[in-house]
Amino acid sequence: MKNTKPWWLYITALFFIIFGLMEYFVDSGNKPAIIAYPAAQLFMLIILLLLISIALILNAVENVMFQTLSEEAKERYLANQSKSTGWTWGKKIYEDLLGAKPIATEDEIILDHNYDGIRELNNKLPPWWVYMFYATIVFAVVYLVRFHIFDDYTQVMEYEQQVAVAKLEIEEYKKTAKGLVDASTVQLLTDSSDINAGKVIFESTCVACHMADGGGGIGPNLTDQNWILGGGIKNVFNTISEGGRDGKGMVAWKAILKPAEMAQVASYILVEINGKIPANPKAAEGDIWVDPNVQQTE
Ligand code: HEC
Repeated sequence: MKNTKPWWLYITALFFIIFGLMEYFVDSGNKPAIIAYPAAQLFMLIILLLLISIALILNAVENVMFQTLSEEAKERYLANQSKSTGWTWGKKIYEDLLGAKPIATEDEIILDHNYDGIRELNNKLPPWWVYMFYATIVFAVVYLVRFHIFDDYTQVMEYEQQVAVAKLEIEEYKKTAKGLVDASTVQLLTDSSDINAGKVIFESTCVACHMADGGGGIGPNLTDQNWILGGGIKNVFNTISEGGRDGKGMVAWKAILKPAEMAQVASYILVEINGKIPANPKAAEGDIWVDPNVQQTE
């Protein structure tokens, strides 16, 4: 018996529907689930094998049933099958939407006049076009009422709203993207991994002038509450990034350190160095720094 049903088509369609559903429901961040989770690959493989085996079983059952039919029933069954039920429905809709007269009945719509043998058909407008035209009319009415009568919102408002949302998103992004910090956005880091990274940088690049315990040498004492260039994470970050006053010896480290590294070493100074008692403290320089934010809340 020849099977006319395109069973492989059903399998492929089902497979991709299940695949799509899985991708839709499994939250896997930026990557597709099939790449992010090996379990998803296994799952889809099992689905594929399952679908193929179901198709094979159904085919086999159909075959066996067919063999049990009488000759007459077999013929009826085959005749039924070859009608190919699947597409007639879609085909009918397609033809209805085209609205074309079959060539056989064209003489019903042929116009009277005859220009040297050239005749004209009075075809109707194709329904797909007419429906789309109606849709534009409905759209226009809704649009007119919504935006010209009730003034729902203007393009300017829409633009401003989107810009506001985008700004919030940028803020969010900056919070998580450590490499993007600058003196205005930097926050004190307290994670031990950041502090340890800061310690490594301090001990390799800064101790020559500030001493390992921050007591000071060529550079000022970093343990006291006096700051020449201002305390607090933002000022300290700024000093490290832009350097000290001209000719004093503190260079602009932004040429050498990445923003994230400067945030780490600045946090290390404030968390671990500042407030400790060093072995040989250098005399305090600059003013006692009071955090303006803390003052406000007091
Ligand atoms: C070549 C010596 C030298 C090195 C190396 C050096 N500094 Fe300095 N640092 C100084 C001097 C000098 C000053 C004072 C600048 C001024 O008076 O304007 C200073 C000032 C500072 C201040 C501001 C202190 C205050 O009271 O305002 C901080 C913070 C600082 N350094 C951090 C660092 C860090 C972090 C490193 C390593 C990445 C570093 N320094 C490396 C010499 C150095």
